[in-house]
Amino acid sequence: MFINVWYVAERAAHLKAGAPLQVRMLGRDFVLFRDRDGRAACLANVCPHRGANLAAGKCRDDGTVACPYHGWRFDRDGHCTRIPSEADPTKVPVSAKVDAYPTIEKDGLIWVFLGDQPDAAPPPFDIPEAGNSAYRQLDFNEVWNCSYHRAVEIDLDYAHSHFVHGAWGEEHRARPPYHVVEDWTEHGFASHLIARSQPNRGLWRFLRKEGKGVPSYLKFKLPGFCRRVQVFIGGEGSPMHFVFYHFATPIDAEHVQNRLLFFRGFLKHRFFDATNIKRNHRAIEEDRRICEGISPKAAARSRDWEIMAEHDHLVGAYHRILAVMRDKGWQIDIQRMKDVEAQGLHPSIPSPARRASPSGWVHPEAPRLAARGSIASAAE
Ligand code: FES
Ligand SMILES: [Fe+2]
Repeated sequence: MFINVWYVAERAAHLKAGAPLQVRMLGRDFVLFRDRDGRAACLANVCPHRGANLAAGKCRDDGTVACPYHGWRFDRDGHCTRIPSEADPTKVPVSAKVDAYPTIEKDGLIWVFLGDQPDAAPPPFDIPEAGNSAYRQLDFNEVWNCSYHRAVEIDLDYAHSHFVHGAWGEEHRARPPYHVVEDWTEHGFASHLIARSQPNRGLWRFLRKEGKGVPSYLKFKLPGFCRRVQVFIGGEGSPMHFVFYHFATPIDAEHVQNRLLFFRGFLKHRFFDATNIKRNHRAIEEDRRICEGISPKAAARSRDWEIMAEHDHLVGAYHRILAVMRDKGWQIDIQRMKDVEAQGLHPSIPSPARRASPSGWVHPEAPRLAARGSIASAAE
């Protein structure tokens, strides 16, 4: 699991004013809450006084969240602003602070930056289809019992489409249409292909134009560990298309919170939702069954443990991005984190304030694998 990434922490509609929410990411607990102005905020969910669960506390009128145990108040920057039981409630020890994480709310999602170097990471991107009347939106949320890397990999794997979902039809059979890795950077890449024939199933067979291929455009974006795919069922540029966003947020090394946004640009009446939901659920279930059956549950640290075939080039492109982040020292050392916890300590994901001022924190920083000098040294 990696720090210095923007993750999708929650759907905006789920975070109500006045009601703190507990969210688990990267094997740590966080509290989300709305401040006085309704802006979403995110803090480490452990009170520095005696470790209580801040998410079980209350939002106060001054925009803080109050700990349920002794009422210490914390603002959106993680500073304790008030200790109600003291003679002078405003006299606060310097170490009464928790890690606070940059938060952005847009397009119906709450993004949280988990790490200490926000300037080094690509920011959350726009979702132009959200709130756009040209589309009908459907949302899917699923927790899978597997590493989030497995959920990303299956998204980038066109060869599974035939075996798991019965795609590509007779022309291509098991071999996916030609596609390559395009525009690779350490923040993402793209690919596209044109399926000449697809099995004609369900309602959508009426949308396909005979003789026209079905182009599919894929993008992997590091923020949110997101795959965006746009499929032109009615041929290139046709309004008969849909767009899928899949955000994979690591709950911990062995569980992933999947959030999917599905936008269809055709048959937009809600009457057609049921068939869409059924179709999407079937595909999601088919993927889940595969991913939850993979061993080991936490993705291998090195690709040496698996065989890379020619058609795994998009998966390989993804792992090259992970290797870059590993080289920067941004990968959490899960084994050492367990050791720290076994000592009765609570490792915290480092925040920008911790980097700016490394001393005076009650809880230690989550241990990371050592940075490596060059990308070439990564075992990819
Ligand atoms: S444990 Fe939070 S105020 Fe005491
Ligand atoms: Fe799939």
